[in-house]
Amino acid sequence: MNHLNRRTFLEFLGIGAASVLAGGCFPSNKEKQTERAILKSLSPSAADQLELAEGLHYEVLVKWDDPISANARFGFNNDYLAFLPLDNNNPDEGLLWVNHEYVDPMFVSGYFEKNSANKTQDQVDKEMQAVGGSILHVKKTNGRWRVVKNDALNRRLDGFTEIPFNWPEPIAGSLSAIGTLANCAGGMTPWGTILTCEENYDLFYGERDFATGNRTIPEKDYGWYRFYDYPPEHYGWVVEVNPKTGEAKKHVALGRCAHECATVKQLRNGRIVVYTGDDSNDECLYKFISSQPGSLSEGTLYVANTAQGKWISLKYEDQPVLQQHFKNQTEVLIRLREAAKLVGATPLDRPEDIEISPVNGEVLVALTNNIPKGNYVGSILKITEKDGRHDALEFSAETYLTGGEETGFASPDNMAFDGDGNLWFTCDVSGSSMNNPEVPEYLPYKNNSLFVVPKDGPQKGEVIRMANAPVNAEFTGPFFAPDGKTLFLSVQHPGEYSDHVEQPKSHWPEGGGAMPRPSVVVIYGWS
Ligand code: FEO
Ligand code: CA
Ligand code: CA
Repeated sequence: MNHLNRRTFLEFLGIGAASVLAGGCFPSNKEKQTERAILKSLSPSAADQLELAEGLHYEVLVKWDDPISANARFGFNNDYLAFLPLDNNNPDEGLLWVNHEYVDPMFVSGYFEKNSANKTQDQVDKEMQAVGGSILHVKKTNGRWRVVKNDALNRRLDGFTEIPFNWPEPIAGSLSAIGTLANCAGGMTPWGTILTCEENYDLFYGERDFATGNRTIPEKDYGWYRFYDYPPEHYGWVVEVNPKTGEAKKHVALGRCAHECATVKQLRNGRIVVYTGDDSNDECLYKFISSQPGSLSEGTLYVANTAQGKWISLKYEDQPVLQQHFKNQTEVLIRLREAAKLVGATPLDRPEDIEISPVNGEVLVALTNNIPKGNYVGSILKITEKDGRHDALEFSAETYLTGGEETGFASPDNMAFDGDGNLWFTCDVSGSSMNNPEVPEYLPYKNNSLFVVPKDGPQKGEVIRMANAPVNAEFTGPFFAPDGKTLFLSVQHPGEYSDHVEQPKSHWPEGGGAMPRPSVVVIYGWS
């Protein structure tokens, strides 16, 4: 990437001095904002529809099982989205990266039983082909985004893709892993690659019990280990993908946990900071600081103590307590959760997505909920790094927004800033709890939604509901196109808690009697 392109790309990411998302973002710039009508928040809805605030409309861009090339189909349960222009001078054409997080066997492989004991290899293979990620060549023509069908740039990574570890030592005996899975949220690097995060990996190949060396299996699992003996240590990493080539690597230096996302900031000297959360009750927030420009392998991983406002080193050489419990740095990174607790990390309420404000550099962390502790509604935490330096080892932390009936949201998850610095975020009330009288805490919110919090103007700081998701679905992966006039958005797991494939609880997006299909939509209507 030449100097000019690199600068443009950094600005596109909000890393440069100002965003280049040229006018037209919503809510628009101050002048337009005072002119425009007050945004009217949608009411909560339990309808099997994608409902949008006045003035916005959507189209389905691609849905599960659509052919994207001669030998590849769009995967299931799309999550994180990232758009990269093919040419920085043309914002209307590029590559869309899409995560495919997990499968619903009922829809994907036709397997209905509660546990995986009777699943066939053919069914497992179908499921392995439905996770990972998709790379789509997308183009805007006559104001409408479309996938360029059968294009050589359209590719899949899935449960069969061999991916090397970016680490000098083998991981569980191997320098590479087979497959990427549980791909939840992610991030972008300044050099034009994406990071895709392996979150709930234990559902696929289980977890290692490091005391006995045995594989442990969660209560509900996909049973892939019944046919493929891949070690659990090969999953739970941040994976970097070059969307132009499909090349990938798993970054061991960022540690192994239920990574929700990996949010990148480049320092002035070219070194890299990556924030990442471990999405589980009472798990932690991490930050990697590279020691070399552009490196995601050389550097130190830290974990947050939010009570003391300190980033604590997880470097083996620096921490006697780690030396007592683990044999080397590699083991610390593989057993990250244990290491974090040993050095004094603060357990948090499911740290999920992380976004850095393009306006003031504050780091927002969605703390989704912690139901065993009675926290159903969650909050958004604001981290202010000391002296505004992302490589600082001290910070202050305070609650930025709290869920609840007063603010109108519960269980915040994915976030995105638009070009004007307004915060957009989605919510993730689980399909089993949503609209369920047995979980009354969530009844006021109905279906999951998309919200905006205007940065300024007459509605500054208000939480405004801009979209409602179909039944059982969750909006994920909000990502604004470079022109600021399109929001790419995933609609994940519609109809997830259906009792039978013939009687799904959602028919979105096709309606009628159709089975539900997770899809990426494009939302239009920004002036
Ligand atoms: Fe896959 Fe934490 O959401
Ligand atoms: Ca998520
Ligand atoms: Ca979530």
